[in-house]
Amino acid sequence: MGRVQGKVALVTGGASGIGLSASVLMAKEGAKVVIADLNEKEAKDAAEMIKNQGGEAIGIFLDAGKEESIRNAIETTVESFGTITVLVNNVGLTNLHKDLDVVNLDLDEWDRLMNVNLKSVLLGSRFAIPHMIKAGGGSIINTASMAGLTGDSTRSAYGASKAAVVNLTRYIASQYGKDHIRCNGVAPGLILTPAAQNNMPQAVLDIFAKFNALPYHGEADDIGYTVLFLASDESKFITGQTIQVEGGHYMANPSISDFNDYLAKSQS
Ligand SMILES: NC(=O)c1ccc[n+]([C@@H]2O[C@H](COP(=O)([O-])OP(=O)(O)OC[C@H]3O[C@@H](n4cnc5c(N)ncnc54)[C@H](O)[C@@H]3O)[C@@H](O)[C@H]2O)c1
Repeated sequence: MGRVQGKVALVTGGASGIGLSASVLMAKEGAKVVIADLNEKEAKDAAEMIKNQGGEAIGIFLDAGKEESIRNAIETTVESFGTITVLVNNVGLTNLHKDLDVVNLDLDEWDRLMNVNLKSVLLGSRFAIPHMIKAGGGSIINTASMAGLTGDSTRSAYGASKAAVVNLTRYIASQYGKDHIRCNGVAPGLILTPAAQNNMPQAVLDIFAKFNALPYHGEADDIGYTVLFLASDESKFITGQTIQVEGGHYMANPSISDFNDYLAKSQS
């Protein structure tokens, strides 16, 4: 029996990276999976791949920036597989060029990121929850980010949208827990999805490697397995939480290594 046997999962942004990993892992463990993505072809290709591996999946179009499209994705899931019991609100956008510090960020970009990163979580949950209640319960999993738990010199809109996702997670968990609906988040640090791997300069990778407690980078499956756990009944007493999956990068006081250097020098 698979870890999520019999569950019906919709994964937004499921055609690549973290969403694809979560989709493949949940399908391997017995869930019926709907991969919903702006890139419809890649969503359908991913579903084909899952079917070739013996799983059950369909790929559909979704624009997470549009209310009607989100409603359609939920309805298509229910029409195709009879219900929805797992919703992975995974779509999230960032923009290094327009989403800057508070004085200089582009306000249209602020609105776009709040819409796609935050409002999509609200709407996906709003449309899925009545079906989950009918089904006797469910699990909502939101992809947040460590950028929603820390401050930074730039990407203010991204960070604020992800911080709001962390707290919306608590509100959903508070409001629907008695209906057996759990809501949790996962906050990735730097994850080397194929897209990130191709675009990330070595110098940036080296900085992350230096500050990770662990001697390696995060991969999509590190988040995918966390989503699988939160989707499964193994996590049945966990709700309202956002699990940090970040290699210990943000765990220690960053001044410690400089302080140790200072101590070593002053003692020599
Ligand atoms: N990769 C990281 O280092 C990292 C770190 C922290 C948080 N995250 C978060 O993880 C989530 C997934 O990131 P990823 O790195 O796997 O991204 P990715 O770029 O590999 O995949 C994102 C997917 O979302 C789809 N998509 C984009 N806009 C969409 C829209 N409007 N509607 C529907 N689908 C859309 C894309 O087509 C793509 O398939 C995001 O919420 C991101 O903010 C990622």
